[in-house]
Amino acid sequence: MVNIFSVPNRIYHGDNAMDVLTTLEGKRAAIVTGGSSMKRFGFLDEAKEKLEKAGMEVLIIDGVNPDPTLQECLEGGKKMEEFGPDWILAIGGGSAMDAAKAMWVFYEHPDYDFEKLVAFDNPPLRTKARMVCIPSTSGTASEITAFSVITDPEKQIKYPLVHPDFVPDIAIIDPRLPAKMPPLITAQTGMDVMTHALEALVSTAADDYTTPLAIRAIELVFENLKKAVDNGEDMEARTKMHDASTLAGMSFSNASLGIVHSMAHKIGGIFHLTHGEANAIMLPYIIDYNRKGTDRYELIENILGVDDIAEEVRKLNAAVGLTNNIKEGKNTEISEEEFKKVLDEMSKNAHADACTLTNPRETSPEDIKKIYECAYYGEKVDF
Ligand SMILES: NC(=O)c1ccc[n+]([C@@H]2O[C@H](COP(=O)([O-])OP(=O)(O)OC[C@H]3O[C@@H](n4cnc5c(N)ncnc54)[C@H](O)[C@@H]3O)[C@@H](O)[C@H]2O)c1
Ligand SMILES: [Zn+2]
Repeated sequence: MVNIFSVPNRIYHGDNAMDVLTTLEGKRAAIVTGGSSMKRFGFLDEAKEKLEKAGMEVLIIDGVNPDPTLQECLEGGKKMEEFGPDWILAIGGGSAMDAAKAMWVFYEHPDYDFEKLVAFDNPPLRTKARMVCIPSTSGTASEITAFSVITDPEKQIKYPLVHPDFVPDIAIIDPRLPAKMPPLITAQTGMDVMTHALEALVSTAADDYTTPLAIRAIELVFENLKKAVDNGEDMEARTKMHDASTLAGMSFSNASLGIVHSMAHKIGGIFHLTHGEANAIMLPYIIDYNRKGTDRYELIENILGVDDIAEEVRKLNAAVGLTNNIKEGKNTEISEEEFKKVLDEMSKNAHADACTLTNPRETSPEDIKKIYECAYYGEKVDF
């Protein structure tokens, strides 16, 4: 069988890696960004100035919301159609980068059916523009990956869109950007990195190309996340976390993920728990569940010299100020009544999520429901 290992054509990393923008060749660039942080810290202006120095006219599409919706991607695509960029530059967290990827589709193919994207039926990209991504969180690694996660608010579902064409052309890993993250966002996005690496490690599609990247990312997160949360100005920890995110991205983009992401996508879509925190909470429960389907956790336990990786994840969650059950989620208090009301449907939808396909233990909507219940009440998974 022939497999594909796909990463951006160029990954520039290190302090001031953004300088490379002055060397891009093109006429027009559209910058896609989120609410305010990139503007506030001066990185939006810096990117714009560097592109202008490269001789480009620049359009800014800002205000992308966390967990971007289909509607805002359609609107962004329209603005791009009017402007006609040959580069799309996304600067911000996973939300800005994911939205830029979907806008790119609607720019190049204005009437494309979203249902087709959900079914991984993508039209060809790069007929009009190429993509540069500059992540500001050390988290999703959308700057590396073939994924874009878009929410349909009507259905209250987050859809992972997946296609090799979504892998950006250029990724710029500049640690000055995530150094501005406050502790809570650092913790949540950092645990997203841990989840990517651990899910890629045990994925049924893991191979010798993806495994070493996942292992190194896990080591780096255990060594550096708490340091970055405790002291945001620790640039060594920030750099290591930013690199860990990229390494984990290279791994999971090619090995795919598992049911931590399936379940986090669905609970996040309904209760607006952040992506990172939903993963952080679900991860240890699912390690306990998946043990019956894989011995790959032992690989990392041996390397780290620990007995139980699930327990280490719980300890790290607590050390960086995150909770270990859904009920106490930082952003949302989910009442038992509301939770019970959506549980069956949410479990079915999580089972149908694309990430379930590569989970190391075969699962069912019934098992997923039981795992959600354990994670809600903080009970051990022992089935
Ligand atoms: N494409 C992929 O491969 C992939 C993988 C996992 C998750 N996702 C998706 O990405 C989204 C989450 O992305 P995220 O975790 O990066 O968060 P985000 O982009 O939603 O940003 C979270 C918050 O942090 C702020 N922020 C971002 N960078 C900052 C900085 N440097 N300083 C201060 N504040 C900053 C943002 O303004 C926002 O309020 C979710 O929709 C998730 O489903 C995508
Ligand atoms: Zn993730």
